[in-house]
Amino acid sequence: MTTPAHVRIFDTTLRDGEQSPGCSMSPQQKAVMARALAELGVDIIETGFPASSQSDREAAALIARDLRETTLCVLSRCLAGDIEASAKALEAAAKPRLHVFISTSPLHREHKLRMSKEEVLEATARHVTHARRLVDDVEFSTEDGTRTEEDFLAEVIGVAIAAGASTINVPDTLGYTTPAEIRALFQRLIATVPGARNVVFSAHCHNDLGMAVANSLAAIEGGARQVECTINGIGERAGNCAMEELAMAMKVRGAYFDADTRIDTRRLVPTSQLLSRLVGMPVQRNKAIVGANAFAHESGIHQHGMLRHRGTYEIMHPEDVGWPASQMVLGRHSGRAAVAHRLESLGHALQDEALDRVFADFKALCETQRVVGDDDLHRLVRGNDDDD
Ligand code: KIV
Ligand code: ZN
Repeated sequence: MTTPAHVRIFDTTLRDGEQSPGCSMSPQQKAVMARALAELGVDIIETGFPASSQSDREAAALIARDLRETTLCVLSRCLAGDIEASAKALEAAAKPRLHVFISTSPLHREHKLRMSKEEVLEATARHVTHARRLVDDVEFSTEDGTRTEEDFLAEVIGVAIAAGASTINVPDTLGYTTPAEIRALFQRLIATVPGARNVVFSAHCHNDLGMAVANSLAAIEGGARQVECTINGIGERAGNCAMEELAMAMKVRGAYFDADTRIDTRRLVPTSQLLSRLVGMPVQRNKAIVGANAFAHESGIHQHGMLRHRGTYEIMHPEDVGWPASQMVLGRHSGRAAVAHRLESLGHALQDEALDRVFADFKALCETQRVVGDDDLHRLVRGNDDDD
């Protein structure tokens, strides 16, 4: 049996995630979140974009003094001033990484950068070399990489590797690619770009078409050994690859991917809730893994199955992601078995006609109330006792 490949988790909640409308954090809030991310087991934390604000510079420096074991990364454009500001912000870091990016797609070259292909290649070589003079660990990203001509993308990546980048990130900036496309793209780049086998390839997928997690997993199949993601999938527009979904997909389908992360998955729910409190953005109830309904069962058929064997309707244990237990929600779709089970756990072991009567009252109550709680059940039992 081979050892599963280690896929590095690069968390960008504090940089790309924070760019999500309404999700900005103070340096102190970022420091609290960074500690939680380190405890969760992420390999790299991107703490901000120092050239963009004083607050990002402060946050990067604060976190650098606090976390000594995790690689800390900050973002820079291909501009000397950005790279200097980033290196300064990480001065105190034990494991600093500079992340340098440039747009490579035709649309971005023409309308955003107003640069020719030759100018993009020259800027890549110059700024990766600059960053490498300041730190050993340099990551290079090709913004809008998946909408870039493949031969040019390969050329830029080759230049960045030759200049000393040890991680190559190919972002799907607009969430445009598909799993089959990105898998094949990573396979070809890793097979053909000179020096590619000596560096780590990374995927950074946005969620505009709801495929960020699927695309990141496909990139892993194509050879990516780093994935960039955020807690709760926060990020620009529809967000980034959601870490909790990616980590659990890899854990639940471990043999399929033959790759693993070092995430302590039992901390996923508390970390998700911490972020939600810090930025004041609730998690949608039906969000995979960390949503309140992720392990809740209401229909009678499902509840009946769950009471016999939890594997009938759960592919993972709620405890493994940090929930205390599965939930049997009693409502209009629930059946007699689940109601009887809950009554018994509340100390009312009812049978036959007594149970029939309470169940009939329960169904009547469901016509006016979405969820029936324990207090309601106690009341229904008492009502029936009084009738006797
Ligand atoms: O989405 C993107 O392209 C980015 C890069 C700056 C890495 O966030
Ligand atoms: Zn991004």
